[in-house]
Amino acid sequence: MIAPTNKTYRITLLPGDGIGPEIMAVAVAVLKQIGEQQAIAFEFNEALIGGAAIDATGSPLPDETLETCRQSDAVLLASIGGYKWDNLPRAQRPETGLLGLRSGLGLFANLRPATILPQLLAASSLKPEVVEGVDIMVVRELTGGIYFGSPKGIFEMENGEQRGVSTMVYTSSEIDRIGKVAFETAQKRGGRLCSVDKANVLEVSQLWRDRITTLSQSYSDVELSHLYVDNAAMQLVRAPKQFDTIVTGNLFGDILSDAAAMLTGSIGMLPSASLGESGPGVYEPVHGSAPDIAGQDKANPLAQVLSAAMMLRYGLGQPAAAEKIEQAVLAVLDQGYRTGDIMSEGMTPVGCKEMGEVLRKAIAASE
Ligand code: IPM
Ligand code: MG
Repeated sequence: MIAPTNKTYRITLLPGDGIGPEIMAVAVAVLKQIGEQQAIAFEFNEALIGGAAIDATGSPLPDETLETCRQSDAVLLASIGGYKWDNLPRAQRPETGLLGLRSGLGLFANLRPATILPQLLAASSLKPEVVEGVDIMVVRELTGGIYFGSPKGIFEMENGEQRGVSTMVYTSSEIDRIGKVAFETAQKRGGRLCSVDKANVLEVSQLWRDRITTLSQSYSDVELSHLYVDNAAMQLVRAPKQFDTIVTGNLFGDILSDAAAMLTGSIGMLPSASLGESGPGVYEPVHGSAPDIAGQDKANPLAQVLSAAMMLRYGLGQPAAAEKIEQAVLAVLDQGYRTGDIMSEGMTPVGCKEMGEVLRKAIAASE
């Protein structure tokens, strides 16, 4: 037993849309149990984001939500979006709420680990010998690049044509700060960093490559390499074990992290942490809101639960509690429990809720 502290951690919960509320319920139950077991006190406050917020307030990120997040020690987010809101104007789309949360909290560094668990080798669509032992950390820049650059918009031209514009921009300070996070992450891992860009075509990428190369002089213990993004996508599915830590911009990171996720068998397994210079981080699964299976008790809650573990480790300085949760996830997989997305022959199929129950049993058993 760890000595009780007086600190009560204020956690903002953003269940969002689709399967969000179901997987969040599992993660909260797990956190409550670990809190009791390890004498960590949590205060949970739920707030609205995404489609749920649009329905209730007209905005995908109400001011009140951002304020509640700012007042907390960490934010646990599930997922946003769904067919219902897909055709709304951009300012009222669920995705706009998520982007507003990231920029509003200054969360420029997005850590997306893709680790293949031996228990799930069979769930990967790639050959076991290709993916066995894969352990990659994608460090994605999250508040810059083409997601936020200006000018942006759809403009009318004099000749009656329309012109759609988005702009990929990075300043040297934006590159340096994500670069530092990436080098430091690589130092704590395998000591290898691969920076991904499109410097053969894009000026913005040339600056990216120059700055990362300069920065590497301060990290002589990290071996730096560079790949163009098209080659990186190919290498990720050809020989993923060559990667340790990857650093890249917002758009390339969005795409490559989905590809890296699938190496592990299911995107339903992968957590992420979004961190800023200071203030609360946001912890969320890499997957989306899966509206096709929402409300059917079919969702895999493990990415959400592992996001809660990342929150304990990176946001609250509680690595032992994080470890307990991660061990419980491995234990239930060892026991053969599988949701549909990771199901394979001979395993025991469970729904979202039951996965939560077996997880809590595993945590109780580890006391
Ligand atoms: C992600 C998602 C988001 C992104 C969407 C929902 C805006 O795909 O977190 O990877 O593009 O960043
Ligand atoms: Mg994405």
